[in-house]
Amino acid sequence: MSSAGTSHWAGHRAFLSRPTDAEPDSRYREIGGAKSGFVVQALAELFKVVTIALPIACDAVPRSLPNDLAARPSASTYGFKRHQVTSMEDHIYLSPPHVGDVERKLLLKAFDSNWVAPAGPDLEAFEREVAALLNVRHAVALASGTAALHLALQVAGVRAGDNVLVPSFTFVATANAVTYLGARPVFLDSSTDTWNLDPLLVAEELDRSARDGRLPKCVVAVDLYGQCADYDPLLELCARYGIPLVEDAAEALGASYRGRAAGTFGLAGVLSFNGNKIITTGGGGMLVTDHDYVAGQARYLATQARDPVTHYEHRMVGYNYRLSNLLAAIGRGQILMLGERVKARQKTARYYRESLADLPGIEFMPLANYGLPNYWLTCLLIDPLVLGASRDDIIHHLAERGIEARPTWKPMHLQPVFLECAMSGGAVCENLFRRGLCLPSGSNLTDHDRERVVDAVRSVPRRARTASGEC
Ligand SMILES: Cc1ncc(COP(=O)(O)O)c(C=O)c1O
Repeated sequence: MSSAGTSHWAGHRAFLSRPTDAEPDSRYREIGGAKSGFVVQALAELFKVVTIALPIACDAVPRSLPNDLAARPSASTYGFKRHQVTSMEDHIYLSPPHVGDVERKLLLKAFDSNWVAPAGPDLEAFEREVAALLNVRHAVALASGTAALHLALQVAGVRAGDNVLVPSFTFVATANAVTYLGARPVFLDSSTDTWNLDPLLVAEELDRSARDGRLPKCVVAVDLYGQCADYDPLLELCARYGIPLVEDAAEALGASYRGRAAGTFGLAGVLSFNGNKIITTGGGGMLVTDHDYVAGQARYLATQARDPVTHYEHRMVGYNYRLSNLLAAIGRGQILMLGERVKARQKTARYYRESLADLPGIEFMPLANYGLPNYWLTCLLIDPLVLGASRDDIIHHLAERGIEARPTWKPMHLQPVFLECAMSGGAVCENLFRRGLCLPSGSNLTDHDRERVVDAVRSVPRRARTASGEC
C-alpha cells in the first residue's frame, strides 16, 4: 500500500480527514509487559487452545483425529444425508490444516516461556512478519477474520442505520460484520469473469444512491476463493464518491493483483487464519493497513478500548479481540510456508483442470489476467444437462468414497437472515451457487489423493438425456 498519494486513495484521504468520535492515535497498543497480571486470562487462553482452538476451530477435520470424529461427513452440514464410508482409505478433506514441526516447536517455545497471554513477543513478531510480507505499514493480529471485518468497518465509520455495499456471493461473515454495527448490507451480484464483486453494478449503485442523497458508508470487496476482486475500477469508484473500501481477503493471503499483495487494497484489509485457510493459527485473523489511525483504533477497540493510563479508563465500548501469543507462534511458523502452500494448491488446481478437461458440462472458475490467485479452493460449475449428473450428485458420490466436496457459497440475498436486504442483480451468483462445486484443495494432498478425487468425479453415474432435455 505504498501508493497513498495516487487518486485511488482520494476516498480514503477524504475519509481520514473527517472528524471522528475517537482519538486518531496508535499509542493505545497494549505492550505485553505484565506477564503476571494475566494469570487468569492465561489459563482461560490455554484452556481454549487445548480444548477448543487446536482440535476443532477449523471447518475441516485434521487427518489425525480419532476415527469416530474423522468419519464425520461434513456434507451433512448442508443437508445431505450422512454417508457410510465404504473405502478403508483415508478421508480427503476440503481444506484441512497443514501444520508441522516448525509450528510445533514455536508453539512449545512460547508455552515454555510462559507468554500464554493475548500479548507477547510472538504476537508482535507475527504482526511484523505479516506486515513485511505484504509490504504494508501495520498488521493487527485478532481472534478471527470476522473480528477484523467488524473492526475495519467500525474504524471506517460505519454506524447504525448506514448502508454498506457487499457482494452477495461470499461467506456469511462478510455480511454479518455489517450487521454487528447495526448497519444494513446492500448486496450486489458478481461478475461472470471473476466471480467477484461486479464493478459495473457498484458504479450503478453508487450513482443511484448519490442521486438519492444516501451514499453507502463503505464498500466491502471480497477476494473469493483466493482470487482478487478487480481493484482498479473499484478503488476509482470509491475515490470518486469519497467512500472507503474494506478488502475482505480472508481467503486470499498469498494472492496478488497487478503485483500487489491481496489484503493491501483499500482503507484496511482482512485476513483469516481459520483452520481451513491457506495458513492457519487454528483460529485467528488480522487487520492490515497503511494508515496509522486505522491500526491504532483497531488495536484500541480490540483491547476493550482501554485508555493508556494506569487505572482502567474507557471512553468507548471495546472488544476482547486480540489473538493469543500462543496462536501467533503457530502463525509465525505457518507464514514461513506460505509460498510452498500456494504452490501445492496451484499444483492441485492444474491437475484437476487438466484431468477433467475432457468431461462435458464442466467449467472451472475463470482466472482473471490481472493477478495471481493463491488457489485456495479449486471451484467449478457443473451443467447437469450436459454432464448427466448434478453438482449434488457429485458431492454425494465423492462423500461415499470418503472425499469431502462442497457447494460454492449460497448467496447472501437468498439467506433467510438477509431476505429483507436490498439486492442488485442476482442471476450470476444464483447460477454460481446452483451449479458450483469446491473440490478438495488442501496443500497436504498427495498425488494419490488427487487421483482419487479425479477418479471419483469421473465415475459419477451419468444419466442419459431424455427427449425433453432432462437427465
Ligand atoms: C470471505 C470470508 N470472509 C470472512 C471470513 C471469516 O474469517 P474467520 O473464520 O477467521 O472469522 C471467512 C472465512 O472463514 C471468509 O471466507
